[in-house]
Amino acid sequence: MKIKTSIKSFRLLLVTGIMLIAIVWTMNCMTTKTTTTAKDPEIEKKVNALLTKMTLQEKIGQMMQQHLGDELNDATKEAIRKGQIGSFLNAGNVEIKNEIQRIATKESRLGIPLIFGRDVIHGYKTIIPIPLGQAASWNPELVEKGARVAAIEASSEGVKWTFAPMIDIARDPRWGRIAESCGEDPYLTSVLGAAMVRGFQGDNLADPSSIAACAKHYVGYGAAEGGRDYNTTLIPERQLRDVYLPSFHAAVKTGVATLMSAFNDINGVPASGNEFTLRQVLRNEWKFDGFVVSDWTSMTEMIAHGYCKDEAEVALKSLKAGVDMEMVSQSYLNKLEELIKSGAVSEKLVDEAVKNILRIKFRAGLFDNPITDTSKPSVILAPEHLAAAKDIAVQSMVLLQNKNDLLPVTKGKRVAIIGPLADAPLDQMGTWVLDGNAANSVTPLKAIREMIGESNVQYAPGLTTSRTTETAGFAKAVQAARQSDVVLLFIGEEQILSGEAHSRAFLNLPGAQEELVAALAATGKPIAAIIMAGRPLTFRTVADKVQAILYAWHPGTMGGPAIADVVFGVANPSGKLPVTFPRTVGQAPIYYAHKNTGRPPSASELGIPLGTPLDPRGFTSKYLDVDFTPEYPFGYGLSYTRFEYSNIQVSAPQIKMGGKLTVTAEVKNTGQVPGEEVVQLYVQDLFGSVTRPVKELKGFTRVALQPGESKTVSFDLSTDDLAFYDINMKFTAEPGDFHVWIGGNSAEGVMTDFAIVD
Ligand code: BGC
Repeated sequence: MKIKTSIKSFRLLLVTGIMLIAIVWTMNCMTTKTTTTAKDPEIEKKVNALLTKMTLQEKIGQMMQQHLGDELNDATKEAIRKGQIGSFLNAGNVEIKNEIQRIATKESRLGIPLIFGRDVIHGYKTIIPIPLGQAASWNPELVEKGARVAAIEASSEGVKWTFAPMIDIARDPRWGRIAESCGEDPYLTSVLGAAMVRGFQGDNLADPSSIAACAKHYVGYGAAEGGRDYNTTLIPERQLRDVYLPSFHAAVKTGVATLMSAFNDINGVPASGNEFTLRQVLRNEWKFDGFVVSDWTSMTEMIAHGYCKDEAEVALKSLKAGVDMEMVSQSYLNKLEELIKSGAVSEKLVDEAVKNILRIKFRAGLFDNPITDTSKPSVILAPEHLAAAKDIAVQSMVLLQNKNDLLPVTKGKRVAIIGPLADAPLDQMGTWVLDGNAANSVTPLKAIREMIGESNVQYAPGLTTSRTTETAGFAKAVQAARQSDVVLLFIGEEQILSGEAHSRAFLNLPGAQEELVAALAATGKPIAAIIMAGRPLTFRTVADKVQAILYAWHPGTMGGPAIADVVFGVANPSGKLPVTFPRTVGQAPIYYAHKNTGRPPSASELGIPLGTPLDPRGFTSKYLDVDFTPEYPFGYGLSYTRFEYSNIQVSAPQIKMGGKLTVTAEVKNTGQVPGEEVVQLYVQDLFGSVTRPVKELKGFTRVALQPGESKTVSFDLSTDDLAFYDINMKFTAEPGDFHVWIGGNSAEGVMTDFAIVD
């Protein structure tokens, strides 16, 4: 893990000088269609022909992925020549990658190219918002464009495979990797994950600007007990199928080239040795024909899990389960040959794995074009990439509170810019930015100075980092606030407080940030807090002291200009929460699609002061010291205008099994400015052969409305959309009554009923 950490912090130099020709080329590559999934008979012929020529050692070589830094030494060259390596992750610069491909294709016996993988998680050098922020845009087209931008940049430097999208369902904000996810909902994650796959892979994986995607972490990783990374998961099969598997199934249906097997164990069986999820579900049921890579040493970690006693058992169980390629650890390299020779496992399984890998290498065009063309003009940080990054950041921002319409701030006002994240170019990029360079980040301070003029801005950070408790800077910050008309306060959590292995047991603003807010509030100046974070934080006391709260996540390279546009009303916020925000960490995990229990609490039981136990009232499912409801519900987000919902209708009160209905409602912009609303459709299946969630998202769309304008929004619903795993584990809808809502978040909306009849 040490090597990886140094890579993560390694920032490559800025590539400047973007030429017009590059822009035209880039623009041509920016629109994509769905990738095809059908097996190509020509490719199958080539795969089979090649396989028959391979020795067992060469086959095992294809199943090995190794980490390579910036140095290609003689021993590694020799291993490539001997066909002992199928893939590298993090293999140096493009020249090194090209040299590797030259050796592999010209000097190895069979000339099989390698595939280079890398974590291009939310942008390559143009960093777009963290995936959780992207998800807050609820905009699949934009999310797809973001992945396309990443693919164009990464492929131009020889990366042909990204370890993304991360489509784990994440319902626990303590879990640091929630930042990399699309949040808590299977439907939203399925739609956005598929958009990312399309963006990365383009309409043809063989196109030089396309990169293979990797749906990860298969599966259940987000259910880590206590939100502690890598922890055990216990997920009943029905919940696995209803909640954790659909986003992966959607990715497979979209043609994702690869999947990554996760670190966690599921119901006692580690994901990297799990025959049920990898072979039964993925291969037998979904017919996935790409390849599965293990997560970083997740195979040999099965020894620590207590599932395998040694490397030989690791190799045996992983192969049987269906892991095709081993990342970093070397159990296949060290043990497969003897396992096959001893008859412990059939070579047929190795052949299957190798075919899966070769199939993707052929689909990716690596046999025809192994070398990256470095003579082309640079596409890194191309203007339209920066523009896309800014658009996504704008749409990712969620306005949570706006008392007295403090936002947008009118230009001409004197503004105090305060807080540790106002000018934190590294932190605003968020987790997983191997190739992002902080020097390219445009911070809010810079963007706002440019937008409203330096003379209107007073900058006093107050705190040097989000975690520090050193308050010496408070006096200057308070003075800046006093001399201004409005305070823009940039608080939250810095980059390294979220992401892999960065779970938190407290969700509050770290360090002395709450004290800073209190000191500023005492000036009586209006405050807009812009919160940058990799997870839902809890900040009730802050919300009580400030007028406005804009949740900006970690917004990436163009975070500053995006925030400036929203704060000064050039853009109207339209983001909606892709995850429920708890009132306190003790409510976690908390998500909107929960079950009702036999004793649901009622609205009359609300109003419990935070952290103060009341006398027990009633035997319902709630807490004594905090309301049972969240701070902000899933799907929530305000705008500078208001939207009203009315007149919900279903095309028929009853539908037959296999039939369809249309649900419509009117949405009206009742405010003063144009705005976009993410309109959401939820259903509740009232009674089932097993208990059903109180609400489930089944559709959403963005609607742009002028002041006073209204539109009828319509959604088609088929009974297939209402299917789930029933008491017999059959995927089916059931006859019965349903509620349906159309609204602006999961807690509000207009409602009507329909029924499914036999
Ligand atoms: C992470 C993966 C990542 C891999 C390769 C692991 O530690 O869990 O998400 O793709 O490393 O860097």
